[in-house]
Amino acid sequence: MNDNLMEKIVALCKRRGFIYPGSDIYGGLAGTWDYGPLGTLLKNNLKDIWWKEMIQLRSDIVAIDAAIMMNPKAWDASGHVEAFADPLIECKVCHERFRADKENEIKSHEKTHDKKVEWTSPQKFNLLVKAYLGIIEGKQQEIYLRGEITNGAHVNFRNIVDSTRIKIPFGVAQIGKAFRNEITPGNFTFRSREFEQMEVQFYIKPDEKEGEKWFEYWKQNRMDFYTSLGIKKENLRFREHDEKEKAHYAKKAVDIEYNAPFGWSEFMGIHNRGDFDLKRHQEYSGVDMQYKDQVTGEEYTPWDIETSAGVDRSLLFLLIDAYKEDGERKVLKLNPKLAPYKVAVFPLLANKEELVSQARKIYEDLRQEMMVAWDDRGNIGKRYFAQDEAGTPFCITVDFQTLEDKTVTVRDRDSAKQERIVIDKLQDYFQDKLK
Ligand code: GAP
Repeated sequence: MNDNLMEKIVALCKRRGFIYPGSDIYGGLAGTWDYGPLGTLLKNNLKDIWWKEMIQLRSDIVAIDAAIMMNPKAWDASGHVEAFADPLIECKVCHERFRADKENEIKSHEKTHDKKVEWTSPQKFNLLVKAYLGIIEGKQQEIYLRGEITNGAHVNFRNIVDSTRIKIPFGVAQIGKAFRNEITPGNFTFRSREFEQMEVQFYIKPDEKEGEKWFEYWKQNRMDFYTSLGIKKENLRFREHDEKEKAHYAKKAVDIEYNAPFGWSEFMGIHNRGDFDLKRHQEYSGVDMQYKDQVTGEEYTPWDIETSAGVDRSLLFLLIDAYKEDGERKVLKLNPKLAPYKVAVFPLLANKEELVSQARKIYEDLRQEMMVAWDDRGNIGKRYFAQDEAGTPFCITVDFQTLEDKTVTVRDRDSAKQERIVIDKLQDYFQDKLK
């Protein structure tokens, strides 16, 4: 199954309305993707779970939602204008360009030519995407679309400390779009040019021991997050960056990697950014980014332990991990919390008024509490098939027995087992199952 698993996932995503190629009717735009009806729900569920963990259940993290467009000085200060670059090489046969550090992609490209391929020497290629602001041609201001969402947190450090009562150690959580002029977008949404990130910048006392403690804490915390969502432990691992690989801001960097069909690949990163960002923003803006401890009177520039995950990448790996085949049946065994629809309701026959009106009533009642799908097309087997592919954990069928004893069939996606449940007990039943 692994050989063409990616093709199957891509096909299912389009067929069922999870993810479509961006600008599809115009032939697409490389590295962009549009989320369809199911994909949008799935993505929002993932983000909601993340927000709940980071904000609702913690007192030491606050939320922000910073602008995508920033004063370009912020990108000078953060080092991105100078150092946010990948090494680019060009195939001398067909002039296609690749990242020099992606050995597998280079090797598979070489196989596409009959003759021996020669490459140009690596050149640094900046990944920031430029945009132009203003209405007068020739006088427009050149800006960058943010290459990581991180800067929006750092530039607001002073504002956050001054406007809240939060004390170090504390975090700033954010979810938002980032843009990168990736040399070789690919592997579906894995490497896109427009994507979403969910990050926490966790500010701590500037101290090696403190740094190590929080780094280890966040590594484990994030690993636990993904296993709690249902990703199999054996498909996840940590990998530390060596000196050459580390980003310009990082003192230390560890990736959580996923065992993807295209090889172990970066899922998310945990970085000790030290005081790099706050110091640079202080230097470039002239604004004091020091933190004053109200009890001891100590003043210092905090360090930042960052956790940074791609929303799209997380979603892709969750989909891959959840995909199962059982003969002809294709099932997305998604964690019910992530599933776009929690329940689907079917009247056994679409032309039997008593069945339809009873099923409608159940549908309307349940959807007050959760996302519920309705399907009255074709035979029940086909309807199960469609809901399995959509990852819907439960299907309810209203049949002739329902009219006699007020029970319905509830069918479980993962076991395909069915049981009869009294209509009045459905709310409690699902509340318990979907906890
Ligand atoms: N603020 C730190 C930062 O941006 P990164 O390792 O460059 O670090 C963090 O990116 C995460 O963002 C990655 O682990 C990945 O999940 C996601 N990401 C990065 N580039 C991406 C791309 N081109 N397409 C999709 N997701 C990407």
